[in-house]
Amino acid sequence: MKVDVLLGLQWGDEGKGKIVDVFTPKYDIIARFQGGPNAGHTLEFNGEKHVLHTIPSGIFHPKTKNLIGNGVIIDPFIFKQEIEKLNSAGINPSSNLYISKKAHLILPTHRLLDAVYEKSKGGEKIGSTLKGIGPTYTDKVNRSGLRVGDILSESFEQKYNLKKENHLQIIKEFDFDLSEFKIDGKSFEEYDKSWLKAIDTLVSMKLVDSEHFVNSALKRGETVLAEGAQGTMLDIDFGSYPFVTSSNTIVSGVCSGLGVAPQKIGRVFGVFKAYCTRVGNGPFPTELHDEVGEELRKAGHEFGSTTGRPRRCGWLDLPALKYAIMLNGVTDLIVTKVDVLDNFDNINICNEYIYGDQKMDYFPYEINDPKLKPVFVSLKGWKTDITAIRSIENLPKELMEFVAYIEKQTDVPVSIISVGPDRTQTIFRVD
Ligand code: GDP
Ligand code: IMO
Ligand code: MG
Repeated sequence: MKVDVLLGLQWGDEGKGKIVDVFTPKYDIIARFQGGPNAGHTLEFNGEKHVLHTIPSGIFHPKTKNLIGNGVIIDPFIFKQEIEKLNSAGINPSSNLYISKKAHLILPTHRLLDAVYEKSKGGEKIGSTLKGIGPTYTDKVNRSGLRVGDILSESFEQKYNLKKENHLQIIKEFDFDLSEFKIDGKSFEEYDKSWLKAIDTLVSMKLVDSEHFVNSALKRGETVLAEGAQGTMLDIDFGSYPFVTSSNTIVSGVCSGLGVAPQKIGRVFGVFKAYCTRVGNGPFPTELHDEVGEELRKAGHEFGSTTGRPRRCGWLDLPALKYAIMLNGVTDLIVTKVDVLDNFDNINICNEYIYGDQKMDYFPYEINDPKLKPVFVSLKGWKTDITAIRSIENLPKELMEFVAYIEKQTDVPVSIISVGPDRTQTIFRVD
């Protein structure tokens, strides 16, 4: 068997969590391969809303195994909170959740370092979620990180204290008042204590050699779906650097973040919104600073699932989408939040950029240059409430023209149309 992949094609928050949840009954294993609690994946069913940060979005289906792969980074305190939330929703993940011993740990001091580095950037802030993502991946690459497997060792606390001291020394070099800084409302000392206590929850989980776990499952003929976090435009190599996250969010991240060979990659489902959003700083060529952008934010409830920050909104960006399709080898497109456009008279799509006097239909190195401007085509809106529609035949003609335009430009079929946040609001064009 091969590993299918579902990932975001824009700047994150494309609706990946919802679609993974819809797909889960078809898979034996759902596996996260990168990122950490900077992710916020929302699922809605039976009138309830759940937001997951570290735990894969297949967790609500007890027959499906969920794996946190080696490429993911875990904050034990946030993880414990997630487990407790699931428990109070009647879900006991300890039976179907597996965690890689090679996944790295986010320490409280990584969160301090994230805040320190952001502060020191002044006007050039990334707009990080401040979950300690950059500093944790930095320590991983620097070969000095702590991993989940380390918590089983008797010398863990000693290793932890050494690392903490080392980070605190770095922080001393900066103008940063530790006594005034709060992590999730707690002082550093309080957070540090809770973090160490939360290690017990992690120890009680099924800790595995995840690369063997996945490859053995594939050999047995089990089906695996890899769930991406963030989006292609936030990829460390190909995103709008330096305004990116610190992992490979693209399909290659599946190979390194789960330990599967490239020829084992199967279908690649690319999820994108019918428009664009971005949280945090960095280039966003189609961003709308006017009342239309405001209308998109209102209609789409565009506020971050992890930080609550308002998301920046703009029209669909085809050069960026085509770039993401190329990098990921997308076989199937999934368009979400189409219902958010229900009330618009006209819907714009950017099909190329102008840079100086040069036209560009691709995503260039110069993306950070404010001289780069979008060129739009305008399509007629459908002006119909589509949220109760469940079959392709009943979708408005103008909406299908919008879909056909995207398919023609990208040369990839749109296999699923999402018309609302609920599990049931999903229209399949192919099985
Ligand atoms: P993720 O990070 O890619 O999983 O996406 P988020 O959960 O951060 O953000 C997507 C938001 O859109 C969530 O609030 C979802 O419940 C919601 N959502 C997903 N699909 C649709 C859709 O088709 N229509 C509408 N209106 N909302 C959707
Ligand atoms: P999901 O999985 C949207 C953004 C942050 C910031 C940049 C770097 O829910 O789609 P980091 O904390 O990683 O150092 O932040 O990346 N970012 C996201 N934006 N959705 C996400 O995840 C994101 N994870 C990180 O806002 O601009
Ligand atoms: Mg999200």
